[in-house]
Amino acid sequence: MPQLAIFASGTGSNAQTIINHFKGSKTVTVSLIVSNRADSGVLEIAEAEEIPYAIIDKDEFKDEEVMMALLEYHKVDMVVLAGFLWLIPSYLVAAYPNRIINIHPALLPAYGGKGMYGNKVHEAVKNAGDAESGITIHHVNENFDEGEIIFQARCTIAVTDTPDDIRKKVQALEQEHYPQVIANLLAKAK
Ligand code: GAR
Repeated sequence: MPQLAIFASGTGSNAQTIINHFKGSKTVTVSLIVSNRADSGVLEIAEAEEIPYAIIDKDEFKDEEVMMALLEYHKVDMVVLAGFLWLIPSYLVAAYPNRIINIHPALLPAYGGKGMYGNKVHEAVKNAGDAESGITIHHVNENFDEGEIIFQARCTIAVTDTPDDIRKKVQALEQEHYPQVIANLLAKAK
């Protein structure tokens, strides 16, 4: 049975949706949550859902032996980034070819790259006066937000929408699509 690790730095709403989607599944388990922040909401989710979790610092993350031991111990087949803000080191990209995916809250290649996360993205979209935004789910390589695009979904932006309104529309798309895209990828990889 494929086992997922979810890497998250924030609230964890995507992590929660993914956990809910695969709860009781006979084909996929979430076997590990990894966070770089001890105060992130995703750790409360991990505790409530009784999923093992690890809090890592930057030195541990850069250390291939430490991270590979953690992922191998939890028999992780695929790494799902859900609001995880550190660049993925090249040893990890090499260890999980096409099996690390990320969700970005805009239509890449626009509004991607270092420092473009969360509300900063929605503020940039608003300042540009764009008529639409959306989500991008993509494979992860050594650069921020540059791996091959797997899936995009769009939403329209009204001129009266605030960055917070845009965030809500984008989050609705994330909730709707991320778990299913993961399920489809795992089914294809069989
Ligand atoms: C999500 O909107 C995700 O797309 C974004 O962070 C948020 C995390 O929310 N990711 C990025 O900006 C990556 N560059 P969550 O913690 O509630 O899932």
